Amino acid sequence: MSKRILVTAALPYANGPLHLGHIAGAYLPSDLYVRFKRLMKDEVLFICGSDEHGVPITIAADKEGVSPQDVVDRYHTINKKAFEDFGISFDYYGRTSSNTHRQISQEFFKNLEAKGVFKKKTEEQLFDKKAGMFLADRYIKGTCPKCGYQEAYGDQCEKCGTSLSPAELIDPVSVLSGEKPEMRETEHWYLPLGDFQDWLNEWISSKNDWKTNVVGQCKSWLEAGLSDRAVTRDLKWGVPVPLENADGKVLYVWFDAPIGYISATVEWAAMTGSPEDWKLFWQDEETELVHFIGKDNIVFHCIMFPAMLKAHGDYVLPKNVPANEFLNLEGKKLSTSRGWAVWMHEYLEDFEPDLLRYALAATLPETKDSDFSWKDFQGKVNNDLADVFGNFVFRTFSFVNRFFEGKIPELVQPTDADLALLNEIGNHSKLISDSYEKFRFKDAVAHTINLARIGNKYFTDMEPWKSRKDDIQKCGNTLHCCLQICAALSVFMAPVTPKAAGMLRKNLGLDSLLFWDDVSDKMIKSGSSILEGEIPFKKIEDEIIENQIKKLEEKAAAANPKAKEYVTEKDAIEFDDFMKLDLRAAKVLTAEKVKKSKKLLKLTVDLGYETRTVVSGIAEYHKPEDLPGKTVVVVANLKPRKIMGIESKGMILMADSPDEGLKFILTEAEPGSTIS
Ligand code: 2FM
Ligand code: ZN
Repeated sequence: MSKRILVTAALPYANGPLHLGHIAGAYLPSDLYVRFKRLMKDEVLFICGSDEHGVPITIAADKEGVSPQDVVDRYHTINKKAFEDFGISFDYYGRTSSNTHRQISQEFFKNLEAKGVFKKKTEEQLFDKKAGMFLADRYIKGTCPKCGYQEAYGDQCEKCGTSLSPAELIDPVSVLSGEKPEMRETEHWYLPLGDFQDWLNEWISSKNDWKTNVVGQCKSWLEAGLSDRAVTRDLKWGVPVPLENADGKVLYVWFDAPIGYISATVEWAAMTGSPEDWKLFWQDEETELVHFIGKDNIVFHCIMFPAMLKAHGDYVLPKNVPANEFLNLEGKKLSTSRGWAVWMHEYLEDFEPDLLRYALAATLPETKDSDFSWKDFQGKVNNDLADVFGNFVFRTFSFVNRFFEGKIPELVQPTDADLALLNEIGNHSKLISDSYEKFRFKDAVAHTINLARIGNKYFTDMEPWKSRKDDIQKCGNTLHCCLQICAALSVFMAPVTPKAAGMLRKNLGLDSLLFWDDVSDKMIKSGSSILEGEIPFKKIEDEIIENQIKKLEEKAAAANPKAKEYVTEKDAIEFDDFMKLDLRAAKVLTAEKVKKSKKLLKLTVDLGYETRTVVSGIAEYHKPEDLPGKTVVVVANLKPRKIMGIESKGMILMADSPDEGLKFILTEAEPGSTIS
């Protein structure tokens, strides 16, 4: 029975272009699912759009000296086009700065306010006197109370993923002025998530078909206990709080953004000329709502938004939230600020979308983080798409065109081998569709390419280059069976490589509108014609891949000029070699300049068991009078050396910082302590 499914993909912030990590996290998986579900004849609506509010947008605008509207207009256009060019088949791509969105999110807020859901509280919050504003979310940085990361934001620590509030940060500073903020009172609306705790516990526990990583994260939130969450902010950019006496207050971006799924659906319905149709997707219990997101969005989609929807009462709740883990790039974490990313619009200048769709689909971070590397991309394209799928299709077409005048040969008295091959069509139809239904897209794609692999092996085993000379009917049977596999692949490949699959259907003379249940071992009729057919996928040369790696490294170097100054690591040593060093804490007693030397200082140091003289080349970085009293690290067993006539017994360890020159390695240990 056909189902009605509303699929959403996380609304990307319109503050920068999309990269591979975004695509692997939410957009390719959702598009694979949607394309598969459409083939299953389900009634699918695929919704996304730009998330245009929130502090990341205003910070980007502040940095560039333009308005937030300028920033979102620019990236909305770039990202919408990148999605289209990559073949992400949204039915509607909205934006949260639209009037419809403002109206719908304000109505949502007023509905909850009228029901008495919110708590209104006056609390002290961080205020930047210099900038004259409260410091919400990413306007504040400090040390994470959980993991000690010093660059944590006021809403989240990107190192350990913990969600934070600005007041929790240790030593907070304003991102705007770099100053220590003061506390000031302000009034805000809070969603008391604790009121929904029991319901959420039960609701999440009932989700036995959700991914374990998603349920695991939800449970740890629930076990920690849910607290009140502010849903308004003191900011100039955002949806204004639709109440009297709320001047200067806007909705928190994570309150309005998920409502963006609803407002985009309303805009889609208006666009189709049936303005009431959005209700079918949001208000009919039969609808299955599925949110595709990355793992950093789990709490908002599985706890906060469901609580909002439940409180409102007029909307369906998510049926599933198949969140993905993160994608790394060449073994390192993707990072926009460090330039470690492959941008979608740049990829599309150099390659076809199908190649990356396949390579990423085969590497999706479905259950754990995964890695994209250009070499692996080349391997997947050359081995799977070119050598297996491409070669199979091309040689089948070539034989039919050359030896059967481009007409599909008849199947007469098939052998067991022929029937076994044809049987694989039904088997794979089930294997692939089961995998899609369970959100196991990597498996779905592996089964798909495996059918081409089976076809390719059958072609080789049947040796049609021999049978065409001595048993033309056998040769015809072989090609007939191979063409049926090609026809099945033209549907099975459609979610992952839609362009190549469409081309294959056209070359086989198949109706472009085919569904999953049209696939059988009799999809194409004997006697009908096929077209010439070109090689569907060509191999990528090493040079092209090396250029991509070079481009990536150059961009990262340009984004981190300091990286070039780091000294290359020395060769690895044995543990025993390291243990030969006798490192000790030593307290500096006296320090003086060595006559006739610009670089050298003569120090006496206390090693606990003795006092020694050490000559050190640090005079350009440290004044002698600053040193007595510091406890430093010395190599105590270095053989004595005469330097400028002074016997030096040992060496002081210094860190050579690329920015600031030689720095001491200070220790709190008492003089003489050994260090290892
Ligand atoms: O993490 C992000 O990129 C958010 N802009 C996702 C928002 S999803 C939804 F709620 F709109
Ligand atoms: Zn942390």
